[in-house]
Parts: sequence; C-alpha cells; structure tokens
Amino acid sequence: MNILLGVNVDHVATIRNVRGTNYPDPTDVAIFAEKSGADGITVHVREDYRHINEKDAEKIAEKLQNKMNLEMANTKQMVELACRIKPKFCCLVPEKREELTTEKGLDLLKYSEEVFLSSKILSESGILVSLFIDPEKKQIDLAREIGVPFIEIHTGYYSDCIDKQRQIEELKKIKEAVKYARKNMLNVNAGHGLNYDNVQEIAKIDGIYELNIGHSIISRSIFFGISESIKKMKKLIIEAKKI
Ligand code: PXP
Repeated sequence: MNILLGVNVDHVATIRNVRGTNYPDPTDVAIFAEKSGADGITVHVREDYRHINEKDAEKIAEKLQNKMNLEMANTKQMVELACRIKPKFCCLVPEKREELTTEKGLDLLKYSEEVFLSSKILSESGILVSLFIDPEKKQIDLAREIGVPFIEIHTGYYSDCIDKQRQIEELKKIKEAVKYARKNMLNVNAGHGLNYDNVQEIAKIDGIYELNIGHSIISRSIFFGISESIKKMKKLIIEAKKI
C-alpha cells in the first residue's frame, strides 16, 4: 500500500491571523486539499490559538469527506474539544508556548500516566489515538504499554540536519524505530520538517502508514498553488518506493 499524505493546513490560518481578516480560510483550503489528493487533513490547535482555533477545527471536522487528524497538547480543554468534534485521529504532542513549532516528541517516561488517562477518554469517544514521539525504543515500548493504535515518529531531527553524516544517523534511528514499532504491532505515521528535498528517504521506509506535512506544502503553494503542491508531494512519496 502507498504511504498516505496528511496535509497540515495550520499555516493558512497563520496568514489569516497576522492581519485579523477572515481570509484565507483554512476550511476552504482543507476542502480544496482533499479534492487535490490529500488523504487526510491535519490541524494543530495550540493552546495560544496562534493559528488554528477551535472554530476552525469544528468547521473542518464538519466539512471534510476524508479523515481529520487533530494534533493537540494533552490538556483537559483539548481532550474536551476532541471529544466534541470527534476527528478520526488525535495525535497528542508536547507543547511549549514559546516554541516556534513542536520541538520534541512526548516524553512518555515522564508523562505516561497522564497520556494513558487522556488516550482512554479519546478512545472511548471513538477516536484513534496517536502519540508523537522521538524515534527511541523506550518511547515505543511505553506507547505499546499505554495501548494506543498509532505513533507518529518525529522526523524533525532528521529534517533539520545540516551535516550530512548526522542526517544519515538520524535517518537510521527512524528506520530502526519504524521496524521496532511495526514488530510491536503499532501503526506508524511520521512527520515534522519534511519537504520536497528530504521526503523521499523517509517515504522509502517500509511500514509507514502516513506522512503529515504542512509548512513545505503551504510554502510551495505560494508559487504553484495548493493543488499542484499536494500532487507533487504525493508523486515524490509514491515514486520513492521505486527508486
Ligand atoms: N506532525 C506533528 C506532530 C507536528 O507537530 C507538525 C507541525 O505542526 C507536523 C507533523 C507538520 O510539520 P511541518 O509543518 O514541519 O510539515
């Protein structure tokens, strides 16, 4: 099966919010992205609502034909939002107010109890829970113990590497993590920082279900439009397996 592409539309809301206008509307872009071949739409409702807000998430959940993946911090307010709008997937991520974007995976060594409790509430609401974690065996073991069906492996360390040798090492960690997670019956997504230059090494890895990609697609769409930018990313992902 081909790896699926989840398109993150957060940065459409970033552009809207810097001017306080009602355009561009992330819901319209989400609908258009689906028509252009996105297999799912990802939104991250941050606690400071710096891009997507609760209203956007509600609208997107209502209008989408395909699946929605709601990324969120593990807080009472966010769990209540998820249970209300019922996305197909919920990905729990760590969140710090001052960070530009998610910097690290969830530390399950520290927070497994809290994550377990929220995962239980979300699962009972019919939502498939995913945990955004670093590519480490001990985190995967804990995700399996918590009992979630999915993990999302943080590809940011790989994506951000300037040094080629370091990047090869980060890629190796991701490959080993995917293999280990699949052996442990976890479904595996991956994402963060993936772009048109670095996606194929990740897309070549057997066992990944979906890649969640946002910033590079929305950035490229300034030049080529959202539809072409999604199609180009999908083509790279599919062709990676044939290289
Ligand atoms: N996956 C997770 C868990 C994220 O936090 C993000 C960023 O919101 C992404 C994927 C998408 O990352 P990017 O915008 O760098 O493609």
